[in-house]
Amino acid sequence: LSKLNKNKDFKGSSVIVTAGPTISPIDPVRFISNNSSGKMGYAIAQEARDRGADVTLISGPTNLKPIYGVEMVNVNTNEEMMNAVLEKYDDADIVIKAAAVADYKIKEYSSDKIKKSDSNLILEFKRDNDILSILGQRKKNQILVGFAAESNNLIENSKNKIKKKNLDFIVANDITRKDTGFKSEDNKVTIIDKNGNEYNLEKMSKRNVAKKIFDLIKRR
Ligand code: CTP
Ligand code: CA
Repeated sequence: LSKLNKNKDFKGSSVIVTAGPTISPIDPVRFISNNSSGKMGYAIAQEARDRGADVTLISGPTNLKPIYGVEMVNVNTNEEMMNAVLEKYDDADIVIKAAAVADYKIKEYSSDKIKKSDSNLILEFKRDNDILSILGQRKKNQILVGFAAESNNLIENSKNKIKKKNLDFIVANDITRKDTGFKSEDNKVTIIDKNGNEYNLEKMSKRNVAKKIFDLIKRR
């Protein structure tokens, strides 16, 4: 029986997960994006569902299948992701932002396809919304979990993001590792809470990382 209860230990909780990349369109046929596969966010959504939560998965474009029993919201751009999250935010208990959100968008989108010429092509980008910072500012009782992708000063940079974005936890990812991260099935992370406690996890499956995240949220 205790195992059964443990399995549904987030029953009644409303969880929002964001996953995958966002894209920044340049013209009708071109965009920039990033390497995120969405696997980490999808694993989190599955774990939350299996532990009894009501889950909304807001996903950028990925090759992954929708998850049974999870409300899926498909988005492309930073702005679409922001609007989808904000729509659900007030009623959420836990928000986990695993998505790799574009920091920039094109300064002037071209509604005509850009033609090639013999000179260089220079594109100018401007800052786009920092969704997680906006959530941090508007936070009431939600537990807010961010991810940090870093190539150097992992812990220090991640701790700064906890403060700057008013988070409860951050999952710090060292993207220079060849055997984990982006497209991989496994991940090697350090979870840090807002009091500065560090949980340096072994390399493990993304699903097991998801388990650890919910175990730490529960302990809080
Ligand atoms: N994030 C977000 N909106 C953005 C950029 C990031 O919501 N425009 C979220 C990500 O989903 C992640 C966290 O913020 O949970 C950290 O993302 P990261 O790219 O590591 O940090 P940034 O604040 O964008 O800083 P930088 O890229 O300069 O390291
Ligand atoms: Ca970023």
